[in-house]
Amino acid sequence: MLPFVLLLAASCAAQSVTLPGGTLQGGQCTTSNASFFYSVPYAQPPTGDLRFAAPQPYNGTLGQATTPSPKCPQFSQSFIEYPYSEDCLYLNVWVPPNANNLPVKVWIYGGGNTAGSISNQTYNGCNLATDPIVVSVNYRLGPLGFLGLQDFGIEGNMGIQDQLLGLRWVRKNIQAFGGDPAACLRSLSLSQLNVTLPRPTGPTINPASISGFGPFVDGEIVPANHADVGVQPTRRQRPQDITEAVYLAYLNSTFGSAASTVENRYPVSAFNSTPFPAFSALVQVYTQTNFWCPAYAGLTRAAQNGVPVWTYRWGQAPSCAWYNVFPPGVLPIFGAAHTAEIPFVFANVDNNPPPDGDCSFTAAEKSLSRQMVGFWTSIAANGNPGSEWPQFETEGTTGINIINESSSVTPGMVDYSVCSFFQQISAGAAGNSSTSATSSGADSPVATYTSGANSMVTQLSWLLVVVAVVGVCTIFM
Ligand SMILES: *[C@@H]1O[C@H](CO)[C@@H](O)[C@H](O)[C@H]1NC(C)=O
Ligand SMILES: *[C@@H]1O[C@H](CO)[C@@H](O)[C@H](O)[C@H]1NC(C)=O
Ligand SMILES: *[C@@H]1O[C@H](CO)[C@@H](O)[C@H](O)[C@H]1NC(C)=O
Ligand SMILES: *[C@@H]1O[C@H](CO)[C@@H](O)[C@H](O)[C@H]1NC(C)=O
Ligand SMILES: *[C@@H]1O[C@H](CO)[C@@H](O)[C@H](O)[C@H]1NC(C)=O
Ligand SMILES: *[C@@H]1O[C@H](CO)[C@@H](O)[C@H](O)[C@H]1NC(C)=O
Ligand SMILES: *[C@@H]1O[C@H](CO)[C@@H](O)[C@H](O)[C@H]1NC(C)=O
Repeated sequence: MLPFVLLLAASCAAQSVTLPGGTLQGGQCTTSNASFFYSVPYAQPPTGDLRFAAPQPYNGTLGQATTPSPKCPQFSQSFIEYPYSEDCLYLNVWVPPNANNLPVKVWIYGGGNTAGSISNQTYNGCNLATDPIVVSVNYRLGPLGFLGLQDFGIEGNMGIQDQLLGLRWVRKNIQAFGGDPAACLRSLSLSQLNVTLPRPTGPTINPASISGFGPFVDGEIVPANHADVGVQPTRRQRPQDITEAVYLAYLNSTFGSAASTVENRYPVSAFNSTPFPAFSALVQVYTQTNFWCPAYAGLTRAAQNGVPVWTYRWGQAPSCAWYNVFPPGVLPIFGAAHTAEIPFVFANVDNNPPPDGDCSFTAAEKSLSRQMVGFWTSIAANGNPGSEWPQFETEGTTGINIINESSSVTPGMVDYSVCSFFQQISAGAAGNSSTSATSSGADSPVATYTSGANSMVTQLSWLLVVVAVVGVCTIFM
């Protein structure tokens, strides 16, 4: 019995790590041999006098790291994670066995700057911590993270400063876990990275005038406003609630006098092969203006500045729910939707939805997941995803297309041609009834609806993630 126990112990990662503040006691993952360290404090609790203040590095003692941390208080209209507490500036670390000078993947969750957390099981790093170390960082949300009232000494962008402090923590401490603090895009120079940052082009926005909470342009932490395209539908609706009238009202409120030009290009009739044609039309336009073309704008800007970027188009509709809040039957409607690639990038291919569902991805999906994980590891280790994935070029828009799990990864052109149409629309939209955008008839829907796992409504690209990785590394170089 004893040799077996010893062997088992040897194959597991160390569960304690000593840092300047003390020894962290982590735990052992059940689905892999990695160890985890939950709720590692990286900043002083942002409470009392520190509410609304820039985060201060944590300088207290370290100890138990086995309990999930509270979420930062959530302000989302659409989802809220409990329990939350203002004392939330913690990060999680997952470490493979025998870690030594490994690349590090850092996860900064989405949620519109109003929701989300490192404790969400979809972002559990146990299965991903095989060859890299995985870190995820909590940051303040909503008004606590993004309110800016400079007259009252509230500078804004606290949430972004939290992320940056978390990254500095990684830089300073990850070696003690067996990570390589310098692996991150070491091939790029500071000036190469610096030119990717958008620069202010006009007067800065008064944060108090913005409805909702997001980064505001302070000229320093956030140098310029991100392209802000389109208006969101105001209500949460079921597909069958989206009638043609709802679609037209959406076009009107989003594009103003250019609504009819958009409608000519995306008439509901072009989506008659789908079960909910007006819904599909709305989703198509929404996807292109909120995800597809903003991603393209970020890519071209980076490439023009000589910064290497890579793009991918994700077309795989997961065969399992990846968040536990999805009601049954919703997957065929979602298709290859926003966030659908997260379980693949996290190697969370079994027991979906996390943490203990009974759905497993197909063998082909698991193979696709291994490819994605490998690309990301290569980016973390070498600053590029490898030769299989061609770098994006402004002329030619090379990248990879993930059409479905069986076609897997296809290097080629990622088609952003529709973005010139929307660029003309937004250039001409402000109250101009004779916009210069031309209607060239209906685009065919991105894919047709079928009743299998490959049905789709939205096909998104997450190239901005790649751009973001470049931006995130800037502070380290
Ligand atoms: C842990 O490592 C051992 C030895 O390499 C291996 O046999 C076992 O499958 C691993 N366990 C998990 C859960 O991956
Ligand atoms: C710890 O940090 C806080 C906030 O920055 C500071 O007020 C305090 O003096 C520091 N304590 C030590 C022991 O350095
Ligand atoms: C995890 O995140 C998803 C989407 O961001 C959210 O809908 C869900 O409620 C979260 N899960 C928990 C347990 O908070
Ligand atoms: C980044 O670029 C800006 C604008 O060109 C320049 O003012 C700044 O000094 C640069 N910062 C670094 C760290 O190179
Ligand atoms: C379009 O929106 C404007 C401003 O909200 C409104 O006055 C107008 O009635 C709308 N037109 C249609 C056709 O919905
Ligand atoms: C996946 O894509 C390939 C290549 O385009 C195609 O031949 C195949 O029919 C697709 N599979 C499904 C299930 O749609
Ligand atoms: C409207 O668009 C047309 C064609 O692009 C342009 O000639 C005209 O100046 C624009 N009018 C206004 C008020 O912007």
